[in-house]
Amino acid sequence: MGDVVAAPWGAFLLTTYDVCDHVLRSKTWLALDGEWRARQGDGNRWAAPASRELGRALQGLNPPHHTRFRRSVGHIFDRATLSRLRDPITRTVDRLLDELAVRMRDGEADFADLVGEELPVASMGLWLDLPRADYPLLRHLAHEQGYAQELLPSASQIARSNAATLGLRDYFGALVRERRASPGDDIVSGWLRTWDELEDGDQDAADEAVYLLTMFLVIAALETSSTFLSGMVWTLDQHPDQLNWLRSNPQEVPGAVEELLRYDAPVHLTTRAAAEDTVLAGVPIAKDQLVHTLIASANHDPARTTDPEVFDIRRPGRHLSHLAFGGGIHYCIGAGLARLQAHALLEGILRRFPTLRVSVPPVWEPRVAFRRLTALQVVDH
Ligand code: HEM
Repeated sequence: MGDVVAAPWGAFLLTTYDVCDHVLRSKTWLALDGEWRARQGDGNRWAAPASRELGRALQGLNPPHHTRFRRSVGHIFDRATLSRLRDPITRTVDRLLDELAVRMRDGEADFADLVGEELPVASMGLWLDLPRADYPLLRHLAHEQGYAQELLPSASQIARSNAATLGLRDYFGALVRERRASPGDDIVSGWLRTWDELEDGDQDAADEAVYLLTMFLVIAALETSSTFLSGMVWTLDQHPDQLNWLRSNPQEVPGAVEELLRYDAPVHLTTRAAAEDTVLAGVPIAKDQLVHTLIASANHDPARTTDPEVFDIRRPGRHLSHLAFGGGIHYCIGAGLARLQAHALLEGILRRFPTLRVSVPPVWEPRVAFRRLTALQVVDH
């Protein structure tokens, strides 16, 4: 249908790798910030509290605000941090796979619930120093908030997202107050020190910035990684020859993870608004109109990837050819952590469960943007 396809709701769908990549990297295309959302008026999805809050957090900011927030955290998952996290995350993988093994003794176990959703929240918990007892609440709030980021959410989905937004503010507001009262050498206390300087000692402004950062990092980490970790088990289960090859070549896990990200990206699309009247691949688009970069479609663009519908973990140059983590200034800040979790989990599964298989196809929530896999029954025999 073309590179730029008009959608019935007045936006445009971008279907090819080059056009999506261009939009993600170009200054002509902006994140949906607070001002854009306010310009859409009242009584619609953009005026909902959940949406307004997203317009204030990292992914909803444009320069110079975005630059300020991104700089304030620096390279949070640099090599040193990732190598510090490797052992605790591997131990967490072992603990979760132990639990899975116990459950599978009785027959089927839900991989999505026990491992896919638990590893991301446990990783964020380790990194940010959050109590394990809070993980179920965080999982719930992240799922519910995700609806506001859907392509066309219903009124009831927006209502659920609004409620989750309040819950997230309560939770992370309390966390910031607690770290403010007794600062330590943890990440959140470090951000408070940085933001106290950036805000010239205005503690309320600094607390608000750290709340927005922490809250958004957690929700961005949970929905995406959970779907990816469970989805990768399902995709490999559907390609037993490649799974067997990987068992004999576990050193190829990183390449396999890149092909998994290309083949079945957990985030199917992201959205930008035109900063001015413009023309994209020959199609005129007015200021403030929306374009949806269809990441999943770009990852299957035959102009970029030979035989894109073939899942091939031995694909050469595969890591260059997907947009699963976006591109440009909003490129996923947690890509290093996401990869670390996926590598550790896949290595653990290959080592410990030579006969693991999916017994019932996964249950998916009917979402388009942030996909969600809610159940994946597995057995080990
Ligand atoms: C497989 C797992 C993941 C996938 C597929 C993924 C995907 C993405 C994508 C596509 C974007 C760009 C959105 C846009 O351009 O509008 C993004 C941004 C972001 N991601 Fe991830 N992500 C993953 C894991 C994580 C993790 C583990 C974290 C946190 C530790 C994280 C934090 C973020 C943040 C904060 C942003 C916004 C960055 C900005 O606007 O500057 N993500 N992610």
